[in-house]
Amino acid sequence: MLVAPSLLSADFANLQKEVEAVDNAGADWIHFDVMDGHFVPNITFGPMVVKSLRKYSDKVFDVHLMIENPEKFVEEFANAGADFITVHQEATVHIHRLITLIKSLGCKAGVSINPGTPVNVLEEILPYIDMVLIMSVNPGFGGQKFIETSVDKIKKLRGLADKAKPELLIQVDGGVSDKNINMLEEAGCNVAVAGSYIFGSDDYKKAIDSLK
Ligand code: DX5
Ligand code: ZN
Repeated sequence: MLVAPSLLSADFANLQKEVEAVDNAGADWIHFDVMDGHFVPNITFGPMVVKSLRKYSDKVFDVHLMIENPEKFVEEFANAGADFITVHQEATVHIHRLITLIKSLGCKAGVSINPGTPVNVLEEILPYIDMVLIMSVNPGFGGQKFIETSVDKIKKLRGLADKAKPELLIQVDGGVSDKNINMLEEAGCNVAVAGSYIFGSDDYKKAIDSLK
């Protein structure tokens, strides 16, 4: 299981220190939650923050865009040093065009779906993408309760991916902890995003290790 700490629950007054701390504690990826106050009811940060932190870690920078009009901003995030750019299926009517744009910028492309969106909307796009992000909470805030039915969605998606794209990465985001990580892995998930579970603990290494 790859572990991607979500900076949403980090100390925003010390982001450099927090990135270095999770990097040293064994994080595989660093997860950036970008929110615009429209697609989700919260506002976080933009590409400048990603760019400023790029020099402090060589880990995979995993940018999760929870914004309207993502097509307007993907180039800036690519230039800021994003390795993966994940966009929401619900935020665009032209997902194939947007994925093509992300790939043309040299990034890996992910598509995310909210808890109320069925996995089968992804069927036609799977061959073109590197990752699907299953939201296991309604996006916008850290520290929410894991939605149990997400496990079945991951199983269903793994079944679709086995036919269309066996190497597809399946990422889960929201309410992930040592309590649900085993069932998520059994369901077919390979990348776990965790915010409050890691940054809320007093030993980042122990928390990250417990998810691996
Ligand atoms: C939610 C974000 C998540 C969030 C997860 O909108 O996409 O990445 O930070 O936080 P936890 O792990 O606390 O649920
Ligand atoms: Zn996220």
